[in-house]
Amino acid sequence: MNRTAAPAPVAALRAVASSVIASGVAAALLVAVLAACGDGTSSTGGGIAAGSLSPAAERGRRIASESGCQACHGRAWEGGAGPALIGLAGSTVTLRDGTTVVADRDYLIRSIADPSVEVSGTWSMKMPPNQLTDEQVADVVAFVEALAEPAGSAG
Ligand code: HEC
Repeated sequence: MNRTAAPAPVAALRAVASSVIASGVAAALLVAVLAACGDGTSSTGGGIAAGSLSPAAERGRRIASESGCQACHGRAWEGGAGPALIGLAGSTVTLRDGTTVVADRDYLIRSIADPSVEVSGTWSMKMPPNQLTDEQVADVVAFVEALAEPAGSAG
């Protein structure tokens, strides 16, 4: 009964849309392609997931990464020009003079702080000295100890 207002004529909307659509499409494709180039750095190496390390070990991981240790000990600490650090902690190491030593915390500290004192294996290269402080060495050792227990991977 009551007459409401007459519907407004809708014809006004029509002209606006058609020229806007074409320009935005190409840019989105480029972004998708570039996103696929990731480098696996979410893992700390040695099968340890990022974020699973203790604070000390995480500091040690960063120190070791920034100190060039991977050049010889492997990008994922699997070894290379120097011995693997994965599984090193707690293992028995044969020194150059034929004696053996268990790679406990003290040994690891010594072999990083004083690389020339106890030389292991038959590596042709010598481990160079470094400038790490005692605290930094302790952190790196915590990291090496974490590498001895890789989550879910054998070795
Ligand atoms: C130029 C190559 C090189 C670099 C760089 C290097 N190392 Fe070494 N590292 C070696 C070699 C070779 C050995 C084995 C001979 C020896 O015991 O000195 C070794 C031994 C070790 C050992 C004892 C391993 C064992 O089996 O007894 C530890 C731990 C270690 N390195 C940690 C580190 C850390 C941490 C860094 C970085 C601050 C580092 N290395 C940098 C070459 C290197």
